[in-house]
Amino acid sequence: MRLDLLLRNATVIDGTGAPRREATVGILGDRIAHVGAPGDTGAGDRRATREIDLAGQVLAPGFIDAHTHDDRLLLSDPAMACKISQGVTTVIAGNCGVSLAPSAADGRAPVPPLDLLDASGGWFRFARFADYVQTLENAPAATNAALLIGHTALRARFMADLQRPASEDETAAMRAAVDEALASGAIGVSTGLYYEPAAAATTEEVIEVCRPLTAHRGVYCTHMRDESEGVLDSIDETLRIGRALGVPVVISHHKVAGRANFGRSRQTLPRIDAAMREQPVCLDCYPYAASSTILTHGRTLIARRTLVTWSVPHPEHAGRDLTDIAQAMGLPVEETVQRLLPAGAIYFSMDEDDVQRILAYPHTMIGSDGLPHDARPHPRLWGTFARVLGHYSRDLRLFPLETAIHKMTGLTAANFGLADRGVIREGAFADFVVFDPDTVDEAVTFDDPIAPARGIDQVWVNGACVWRDGAQTGARPGRVLRHPAARSDAP
Ligand code: ZN
Ligand code: CU
Repeated sequence: MRLDLLLRNATVIDGTGAPRREATVGILGDRIAHVGAPGDTGAGDRRATREIDLAGQVLAPGFIDAHTHDDRLLLSDPAMACKISQGVTTVIAGNCGVSLAPSAADGRAPVPPLDLLDASGGWFRFARFADYVQTLENAPAATNAALLIGHTALRARFMADLQRPASEDETAAMRAAVDEALASGAIGVSTGLYYEPAAAATTEEVIEVCRPLTAHRGVYCTHMRDESEGVLDSIDETLRIGRALGVPVVISHHKVAGRANFGRSRQTLPRIDAAMREQPVCLDCYPYAASSTILTHGRTLIARRTLVTWSVPHPEHAGRDLTDIAQAMGLPVEETVQRLLPAGAIYFSMDEDDVQRILAYPHTMIGSDGLPHDARPHPRLWGTFARVLGHYSRDLRLFPLETAIHKMTGLTAANFGLADRGVIREGAFADFVVFDPDTVDEAVTFDDPIAPARGIDQVWVNGACVWRDGAQTGARPGRVLRHPAARSDAP
């Protein structure tokens, strides 16, 4: 067996949480074909076409971004620079009830928050989920993608009035679309019950729309109805949906928002922990004490500071503080918000202690929740993974590097049922990242949010190099990761 590539003198952190070890790793085609002793010179049957000496560098599985809104980015900017530059090789797209497909495909501006993917509406061109999957497979991106179908997208597609629960006919239409999506490659359904177009949906509506998850063994991901005062009730609703369907639930970007709720991760995490003994439950988190989504006046009220990230009528105000814009306009904040809409914002509404407690919880996965089409995005888009490795693991010692990597690789692959991903071992796919543990960190701030991470040396997807020496290579080896044949339901 001749190898395509031999990585010598690597410090391997394999994604399982196991301690690092020195090893030689060989790649053949799109797979890891050999993991050998450190002194392995690649002689004999392990001769390789190419060799790279990784002395001093860490070799880890490519990071899996557990929570993204990359549905459109995969098509409109397939280089995925914001992701590959920080070591991400797979994205879970279609979160928070927001997916690009299916839609009415009429070119009209979508109802918020669907406009987070495209405010103009031109990209909402897929009437069926299968059309979207086909388009992505015909023109692959640099990263792999695992896809969710969004309940809010379904409501916008099949309901005339979003202010009420779905009728029986509407529920049946949405359920049929879920079945079609799961059959054509989606791995689950997401909801955004927090957002206006889905807030009127009852728990029963969600269960009935999501019924096909059971037979397809899909996952249920949710931006819960309430992440503030009612967060415990929302966790209970999420768990109930999971039990009714017999499927794993993913609590998206877990947080407790608003000053009145600071510290309440001390309540939510034990609730989640207890539930894990009864049913499969997962959660993800981004490593910042500020959230980001569409702009509404209500959301500004629980934030100590609001930054505008984009505005259709006033693009010149992107990146500015809302109170400064109000002052410049000579208007009250509430009226200023009306002038800016449709728009997006960053809300400083969390407590750093909660963020750290949730990040450090052993079952928490890392997901960026990055918004790639914002003019001045939240720094989580370009910074999340490097910030966890550098700021939180190395500098604050919140957890060891092995744990940090497990939270962005092996744990995530197991939770989403992504076979042969998220680990460095023989037979796994050759998705990997090489980075410098002494310098890795985000290079972005809230004031300057667009820049590749520091210390990321090389990124490979399915055996092809996509990022090297601070630049993309142009390769587009990404795949749509199909519905898992065998999921590990172990919590
Ligand atoms: Zn969300
Ligand atoms: Cu999200």
